[in-house]
Amino acid sequence: MHTEQNKIFQRNIKPDKGSRDSLIYTLGIESTAHTFGVGISENDKIIANERDTLKPTSGGIIPREAAMHHFKLAPEIIKRALDKSGLKLKDIDLFAFSQGPGIIPALKVGAQVSTFLSNKYKKKLIGVNHCIAHLEIARLYTKLKDPVMLYVSGGNTQIITYYNGTYIVFGETQDIGIGNLIDKIGRRMDIPFPAGPKIEELAKKSKNYIQMPYSIKGMDVSFSGIETFVSKLIGHQSVEDISFSLQETVFSMLIEASERAMSYCLKDSLIITGGVAANKRINEMGAKMCKARNAEFKQIPMEFAGDNGAMIAYTGYLMKEYKQEDLRIKPKFRTDTVEIKYR
Ligand code: ATP
Ligand code: FE2
Repeated sequence: MHTEQNKIFQRNIKPDKGSRDSLIYTLGIESTAHTFGVGISENDKIIANERDTLKPTSGGIIPREAAMHHFKLAPEIIKRALDKSGLKLKDIDLFAFSQGPGIIPALKVGAQVSTFLSNKYKKKLIGVNHCIAHLEIARLYTKLKDPVMLYVSGGNTQIITYYNGTYIVFGETQDIGIGNLIDKIGRRMDIPFPAGPKIEELAKKSKNYIQMPYSIKGMDVSFSGIETFVSKLIGHQSVEDISFSLQETVFSMLIEASERAMSYCLKDSLIITGGVAANKRINEMGAKMCKARNAEFKQIPMEFAGDNGAMIAYTGYLMKEYKQEDLRIKPKFRTDTVEIKYR
């Protein structure tokens, strides 16, 4: 465990079994796409977060390969998370899994493994919406009570606010997710999946902005026109200039829409969550916009930006009283269809 992680968990001792009666240990499994992750929470505190991400040597994620990766690694990742927490499977009070949205074969692995464990140990099983888990882990670590939430990942790009028991999607992408756009452009520049970190590194080496289509439609954004435009630049402009200009364009679009959401909804704070929230530049832009309007901005720890099991465990814990009848996977599970009863 590296030092950043140690600071986040702030404990490395075995739980005191004598006083654990009032504590709820939740084990959460994430398997919607490329990552198999297992997190464990002790009430609302994360005590383990282990994962492995499939990194194809060429091309994108093939669903069957993701499922095989998850099946192969499930026992090892579960063991690593248990070892880190000092718990045994029999100590777990609640199991949670990512119910969707995601890739069907990958989702099935998390559902099957967690169903097996909950049956074997006779403990409750909670199905968690993956997108909401990205929001809740961000709220946990930023301690912001009611922020506008910019959720930016591979498959999703949404601007979300909480209202009356629902996470309302105030704006979103009309086509592909921002991470998907970055990964597609990356692939054309021979950068393997996930391209985000490498594009960020390249972008830092340029200050030469190439004008690109800036595509906001009301509160929504669209990336496919930018994809076509940028594809034509590859081979003619430097990868550094393309990466820099791409980041500046798409991040500005999203920060502009987020600001509008804050203004419309009278919210005075912003968080950015999801895999792309690991990017320093988008956080800088978010912080700058918030400062200008006297609002609060807090960056989430990088550890919890991308897909992880901790966010599933924690959200499962929040949902512990839910009575769920349908625990089937939901590949198209939308953020705004979940009733939020714990807020
Ligand atoms: P979701 O189901 O929430 O859409 P996901 O399957 O896309 O999740 P995440 O781990 O949330 O998984 O996000 C992965 C995405 O984040 C990838 O597209 C990746 O390129 C992008 N990403 C990771 N790090 C960075 C970074 N530093 N800058 C920009 N993008 C990044
Ligand atoms: Fe995700």
